[in-house]
Amino acid sequence: MERIILIGFMGAGKTTISAKLGQRLHLPVVDLDEFISKKISGTIADYFEKYGEASFRYLETECLQELLKQKIILSTGGGIVVSSENRKLLSQEENVVYLETSPKLFLERIRNDKENNRPLANEKSDAEVVALFQSRETYYKEAMSFSVATDTKSPQEIVDEIIMQQKGRKS
Ligand code: S3P
Repeated sequence: MERIILIGFMGAGKTTISAKLGQRLHLPVVDLDEFISKKISGTIADYFEKYGEASFRYLETECLQELLKQKIILSTGGGIVVSSENRKLLSQEENVVYLETSPKLFLERIRNDKENNRPLANEKSDAEVVALFQSRETYYKEAMSFSVATDTKSPQEIVDEIIMQQKGRKS
């Protein structure tokens, strides 16, 4: 296994699940947003404000390309699939897992999250955030290798299912 990449909307649980997968598979975990933050020596929110989304997406592609050479568990930002170049890069990978989460749950998480400042959710109404998700749904499906429905499962169960599905695909 080369690497596992987690994709999904904001609040889908990518960070939590990637940490658990890394422990279980003894692989380093990289969070793409953190990687970008280090690279720009600043926060994603500030970057969005200063340079806008298009510039952020460009940076995201550059960093994604760099990380797709490594044997890691990679947690991506919810908008990774917006760029067609990123979707192409991801669809060439073997283990891109789409964490499927219902709007009810991701909205609850996004609104209660005091740690992450999400520029594309902060100033939007719930209906606008859901519309953003809907505009990306087919993109997640285009980029994924397989998906895991997360709503009714514990992090442990989600990790188990990812490992099971990944093994099943190889045999
Ligand atoms: C974004 C999601 C964020 C972050 C940035 C843009 C998006 O990551 O990359 O704020 O476009 O959905 P999370 O999915 O980890 O919140």
